[in-house]
Amino acid sequence: LVLRARLRGEPDPVTGYICNIKHVDAALRQFAVPAINQAYENGRRSGEALLAAAGQALRDQAPAGTRWFSWELRATPTLRYEMEADMPNIVQITQAFEFSASHRLHCPSLSDEENRRIFGKCNNPNGHGHNYQVEVSLAGEPGEAGSVIELARFEATVKQRVIDRFDHKHLNSDCPEFRDLNPSVENITRVIWSLLDGQFAPARLVRVRVWETAKTYAEVTAE
Ligand code: NI
Repeated sequence: LVLRARLRGEPDPVTGYICNIKHVDAALRQFAVPAINQAYENGRRSGEALLAAAGQALRDQAPAGTRWFSWELRATPTLRYEMEADMPNIVQITQAFEFSASHRLHCPSLSDEENRRIFGKCNNPNGHGHNYQVEVSLAGEPGEAGSVIELARFEATVKQRVIDRFDHKHLNSDCPEFRDLNPSVENITRVIWSLLDGQFAPARLVRVRVWETAKTYAEVTAE
């Protein structure tokens, strides 16, 4: 597990520090790690429960002159839980998914020359491919089972509604969603948002982030 804490504070005018980072490290080791272990031993083993235990133990232990902003628990390289210090009842869960697809950036309303000028290589008539990474974030209050949502339901919903629909497809020609919509990463993100919004009740969809390359992503967030 990876535990991350974010703090806020005013940098000291002399040192430029918000606080000595050793004090952050010490607080996490002294208070959060034992609380996580305790929760685990007591059978409260969901990511939400472990994060809540850490948050509760840390709440009054912010290093002098700082306040906690949020905590994050990474359960696997693709699964993370986050909680803001001001809203300890709400947990955000983010899982990453991936699909491979080809697309062509092209607008029929523009001339071929304009399309080439705007989209460059991405206008190549036969398309080109990406390995898209989709991060989906849900938020809610952990229910009786200790979770915002059952992880299997979360994963199955994204798989059925998004991944199976787009994986190994040519977005322009295979997917009706993009028949009249240029499959830019912005539009892909909007389409994925609309396919997922409202599917996870009582948890809420709060963010969809789509990485088209390691350098480029688009995201849609709840207002
Ligand atoms: Ni592309």
